[in-house]
Amino acid sequence: MLTTIYMINRKIQTLDEFTIQQMRDFPHATGELASLLRDIGLASKRVNVEVNKAGLVDILGDAGTTNVQGEDVKKLDVFANNQLMGVLRHGISCAGIGSEELDDFIAFDDPASNNSKYVCLFDPLDGSGNIDVNVSIGTIFSIFRRVTPKGTPVTKEDFLQPGIQQVAAGYVVYGSSTMLVYATRRGVNGFTLDPSIGEFSLSHPNIQCPEYGRIYSINYGNMLQYPKQVQDYVDACEGKDRLNGGPYTQRYIGSMVADLHRNLIKGGIFMYPTTKDKPKGKLRLLYECNPFAFIIEVAGGKATNGKERILDIQPTELHQRSALYAGSKGMMEELESYLNKV
Ligand code: AHG
Ligand code: MN
Ligand code: MN
Repeated sequence: MLTTIYMINRKIQTLDEFTIQQMRDFPHATGELASLLRDIGLASKRVNVEVNKAGLVDILGDAGTTNVQGEDVKKLDVFANNQLMGVLRHGISCAGIGSEELDDFIAFDDPASNNSKYVCLFDPLDGSGNIDVNVSIGTIFSIFRRVTPKGTPVTKEDFLQPGIQQVAAGYVVYGSSTMLVYATRRGVNGFTLDPSIGEFSLSHPNIQCPEYGRIYSINYGNMLQYPKQVQDYVDACEGKDRLNGGPYTQRYIGSMVADLHRNLIKGGIFMYPTTKDKPKGKLRLLYECNPFAFIIEVAGGKATNGKERILDIQPTELHQRSALYAGSKGMMEELESYLNKV
């Protein structure tokens, strides 16, 4: 008689297994962070399903219209926002949220949520201008420990913390495969969604951003509006000055999740400077810059607004904008030598 033995591949660790494993190293850990990451993973799997159907808008109905089943079709960024909001509200680890899609923060304000120690801020769908053309987009999240006492509803103060206080930050990239990458102070780890089991599985353990890369990412169309020092650095990237490994390669997708993910893995620099039209910058400090600055720094890179470290900025508004320069340490130092020129 033939017996088939199904081997479980124990080399593969799912996101849940990994976060629980990490927790076991800390006897006092409560498991709240692991549960919060699981909730974010669940919401992003639901978003992934919708993102994959985005090309069928002609059949299913375009955003803001009614589809063939007579249902209202929501914009994908609103859908993503609702998924994250719903999952986190019903979970046990999140006391409140802030989102790029919401004017104000939300305190969940029920007994279980008020006893949770974390708040979560997110850009539910980043690069949403790329949805209709099948280009990678993402979700970005940032997690802080609340500063107000447990047992009470969270307040704005819990959300307006400098990025250095982040407990964890991460992103999901909906690309040729779907990946969730998150950082805690202990390291940055990447998980690829295995569609056959519907689980994120550890595929990129302990990600380190190479000290130098050859990629610079910037919206070239705004070049004439950038500060002179940035223009000079871009000239240098093109070969005007001798840089380590230069001239470099220009790559710009227009989804910062995809641009920064590639540069994190391959080495590179991402720049979204101030412009004459947007003198404070375009990207949002709390939902975009802080989480990426945290991830990049934990991976060995650097992130600044051109004047100061992103993670040291004390936010004053939920939707505050910032310039962002982030990436490989060596390339960031090259850039800083240009920014420091008067
Ligand atoms: P969002 O879709 O959340 O509004 O963010 C888009 C952001 C970011 O992902 C990207 O890097 C940048 O906007 C692109 O802006 P430009 O088209 O001005 O270069
Ligand atoms: Mn965005
Ligand atoms: Mn967005």
